[in-house]
Amino acid sequence: MRVATPGPAFSRPAAPAPRPRTDRAGPTAERHTSVDDRRDAPDGAAAILEACLAGRLSAPVALGRLLLAAPPGDAVATLERALAAVAVPEGDRARRDRLAELRALLGELHAGGVTVAELARSDAGAADAPGDAVARWASFFDRAVAASEEASVALYSLGSPRILERATAEVVALLERWGVLGPERRVLQIGCGVGRIEARLSSKVREAVGIDVSAGMIAAARRRCAHLPNVRFLQTGGRDLRAFGDGAFDLVYAVDTFPYLVAAGMPLVEAHLREAQRVLRSGGDVVILNFSYRGDVAADRRDVARLAAGHGFDVLALGETPFTVWDGVAFHLRRGA
Ligand SMILES: C[S@@+](CC[C@H](N)C(=O)[O-])C[C@H]1O[C@@H](n2cnc3c(N)ncnc32)[C@H](O)[C@@H]1O
Repeated sequence: MRVATPGPAFSRPAAPAPRPRTDRAGPTAERHTSVDDRRDAPDGAAAILEACLAGRLSAPVALGRLLLAAPPGDAVATLERALAAVAVPEGDRARRDRLAELRALLGELHAGGVTVAELARSDAGAADAPGDAVARWASFFDRAVAASEEASVALYSLGSPRILERATAEVVALLERWGVLGPERRVLQIGCGVGRIEARLSSKVREAVGIDVSAGMIAAARRRCAHLPNVRFLQTGGRDLRAFGDGAFDLVYAVDTFPYLVAAGMPLVEAHLREAQRVLRSGGDVVILNFSYRGDVAADRRDVARLAAGHGFDVLALGETPFTVWDGVAFHLRRGA
């Protein structure tokens, strides 16, 4: 999804979104001669492929970024040619396995994934346009979710429920490891998308609430979780948490949503930290998975540490990379007494 931004978590902005993480494997990435001179590859593809073959980027994330980098109208054929042209040195088992995974995953690419990537590319640049950034994200995600529920929340899923499920399981495992779930806990997700996390958390918490600016996302989330009585969703204006009272939650978390807040401006980020502090009970937790799509984790760590100090949070984890499917960067804060 990160097509440059908004989107589904990927990377370099290609879309109106905050910048997609594609860039992480972009201009500064090391290159490898075996893929450097692929003539058929889209711009930037060599670096992305090399990052994946070297084990620095998962195959789903690499393919999501390659999709964003591919020319419109011909993405799949371009990626097929690019992968077919990769040569792996005899005996390099690890590279051969990763190349095989890339080729197999390309076969799992759904049409909706291609459409979401196209949307992100065509919206690229909107992030910096004047006007209401929150409304632009809502419009982008309404269109994206109509094309693919899976790709709209995570481009790296390629539109595949199976890949998204693997990534979701890793997110939930991290929340469990960090001890922020429990049968008495009420949890709030900012930017809940299609409710894939709530569907998984329902059995692990007392109540799971999701908010989102996109009406299409909220409708999809309600359909997905209609059978879960302790889950509810609310469309909000995206500027605060005014729908909730003081101390209402034990956990406030965001999965790939802060990049859109950051893209809309630091005052919106500050407002959400201030509001999170208000709606959390003392000792409650904040988990942020991906703070920005700037491609500068050191800057993200500095910003999150500063925000935590300014809003009364202790820092328990500052920019960890705990996942194998998704390249999300994880932050854990705790509200002081
Ligand atoms: C990349 S999607 C991730 C969705 C979900 N967290 C997941 O991982 O499945 C980002 C979501 O953030 C939502 N969003 C963007 N800006 C928002 C804001 N200011 N307030 C609430 N939601 C927002 C979008 O509509 C979109 O559903």
